[in-house]
Amino acid sequence: MSIPQKKLTIGLFGFGVVGTGLYTVLQQTPSLNAEIKQVCIKHPEKKRSAPESLFTTDATALLEDAEINVIVELIDDADAAYHIVKHALTAGKAVVSANKKMIAEHLQELLDLQAKYNVPFLYESACCASIPVVRNLEEYYDNDLLQSISGIVNGSTNFILTRVFQDKIGFDEALLHAQAEGFAESNPVLDVEGIDAVNKLSILLNHAYGIVANPKKIVHTGIQNLDSHDATFAKEKGYEIKLVAQAKKLDNGEVAAFVLPQFIDPTNQLYNVRNEYNGVIIESGFADKQFFYGKGAGSLPTASAVLSDISALRYDYKYEYKKLHSSNRPVLTNDFLLRVYVRFEGLFQVPHERFERIEEWSSSEKRCYVIGVIKFNKLVDNNWWKKKGTSLVVLPDAFADGVEEKESVAEELLAVV
Ligand code: HSE
Repeated sequence: MSIPQKKLTIGLFGFGVVGTGLYTVLQQTPSLNAEIKQVCIKHPEKKRSAPESLFTTDATALLEDAEINVIVELIDDADAAYHIVKHALTAGKAVVSANKKMIAEHLQELLDLQAKYNVPFLYESACCASIPVVRNLEEYYDNDLLQSISGIVNGSTNFILTRVFQDKIGFDEALLHAQAEGFAESNPVLDVEGIDAVNKLSILLNHAYGIVANPKKIVHTGIQNLDSHDATFAKEKGYEIKLVAQAKKLDNGEVAAFVLPQFIDPTNQLYNVRNEYNGVIIESGFADKQFFYGKGAGSLPTASAVLSDISALRYDYKYEYKKLHSSNRPVLTNDFLLRVYVRFEGLFQVPHERFERIEEWSSSEKRCYVIGVIKFNKLVDNNWWKKKGTSLVVLPDAFADGVEEKESVAEELLAVV
């Protein structure tokens, strides 16, 4: 007996990197029973790789077409995307979106709309493009055994780090390559400063733990302050530097979450994740660690996740947000200890009072750094660690337990400054 499948008639918003990718992959998957009826675009003057009759600039023509039962939103402008998605959900149409910024910034409203209108809203492509992490967190890790999730979730910054530190090309040149390949956001500051990664982390927190968090409130930075001194330190210790988004359930049941650069040692699966690839490690009670790896940006990898969402709509698949509705949802906390390396321009800039424990320090004409344990709260209160000339990188064993004083190292430093 075959399972009945819905015929999907799609109204597509946007025909950029991902939109054109979707058009290509849909043409190669005729069994899907899904057809793009119309595409709404902003710039009709641009040459498109699809018949002209498909395109319109009239958004309402799609949103109010009764035949269109799926809106796929792949535009760049997060505010416009929000209005499109809201309109579509209100009209009872299923929606697929890749817009992580829009989803992260409006998560609660979007959850309310889905509940009110009982329509599917899927966004697998918004996190790690081709890696099916959202649906796995939602369906497979659907109990409270999830310990931690840590990953490289931004392809552009990973691409830039690979090119700059391995291939020794300049930062600006590497960014231009990431843009030319269609990996970067149209405003690349979102990638470089960790904003895209924290938007993705806030979406993942919901599916991992049922936590709805404003991404602006989650501690984050990107790769903008890293320089060759940090790369030299990494090389000396046998590490790679990666921008890592992570969330971890602490012993008291609360969840620590942040996006920060981290030194990765060769035993960590993220060590070999390079270029635009993403990697996510999920740790759970009895399964121990599982590793997901795949392309995290680019036209066809992102389109493949959009396609998978469209395919799921044939069976009316919806996220159930089981953890969000669970009675013992964990809360986010900033009350934990983190082991970090901080590079300063000079030893006199080291705010040693911000460290609970100093384990190692170095000061030479070329570089000055301190390795120690800080109270994470102290990164939240004040941006001292984001200042130009300062870089903060999390150590491989990031979470510190207690604080036993290592007086001698701290005293040695104090005697010098
Ligand atoms: N700019 C994003 C990245 C695109 O580089 O990961 C995919 O979300």
